[in-house]
Amino acid sequence: MTQFNGRTVNRIVILTGAGVSAESGLATFRDSDGLWEKHDPMDIATPEAFARDPDLVYRFYNARRNQLKSVSPNVAHRSLARLQAEFPGEVFLVTQNVDDLHERGGSVQVCHMHGELNSVLCKACSSAIRTSKDIDGHSTCPECGGSGKLRPDIVWFGEIPYHMGKIERRLETCDLFIAVGTSGVVYPAAGFVQGALLAGAMTVEVNREVSEVTGSFHQQRQGLATDQVRNLVEELLAD
Ligand code: OAD
Repeated sequence: MTQFNGRTVNRIVILTGAGVSAESGLATFRDSDGLWEKHDPMDIATPEAFARDPDLVYRFYNARRNQLKSVSPNVAHRSLARLQAEFPGEVFLVTQNVDDLHERGGSVQVCHMHGELNSVLCKACSSAIRTSKDIDGHSTCPECGGSGKLRPDIVWFGEIPYHMGKIERRLETCDLFIAVGTSGVVYPAAGFVQGALLAGAMTVEVNREVSEVTGSFHQQRQGLATDQVRNLVEELLAD
């Protein structure tokens, strides 16, 4: 049993967003110079956008998949992996990020609710295929051999995030909920803090600035994810 701010903590749920990968060099979505400042999400991240201009969507996600090869996990990713490995209770990590930096930082359990860049979906046979290669409108599915049926395995606006049942069950039983580097704009993730509060959990937000949902958290630790997450993990493992 671990004491944290006067509470007993056995089960932790951690939600991460683009801010946890920012110091690794990956642009966030809504900060100045963010991805959605250069592109309208409605031109990229919707099924309708993909139907209208698939080449634009392929190019966007191919570039982001390729970028993963030139970035590395940072202290925040590694600290969260250390917490998962060393905390005596349960630590469930759910991320909105589609990068693979949590895994490369050492996390063995990562729930990617918005999909993954290193996975593509075949619309013909419904297979999810792991790949770090580019795809385009002529790519062949290695499972069914179908041509031109692959799409990025990304949950777009208007689609249902992955693993929601599992995430809701973890929220219902957690005693500590931590959100790191997320603006609190996109639901359902932005509502997870409310689920945790209903479960009676303590809630902590780590963010460089005030987010849309800061007021819902018991505690906000304002600053860079690398500093704040490392300190928070030290505290949780200090017992
Ligand atoms: P956003 O870009 O909306 O928010 C990033 C958050 O991270 C902001 O609140 C920043 O203040 C904070 N931040 C930036 N750098 C930081 C740092 N070094 N340390 C701590 N905090 C930092 O990204 P998300 O909230 O992840 O969905 O966006 C949610 C979803 O919206 C994404 O998963 C994506 C997007 O549309 C899809 O593409 C489906």
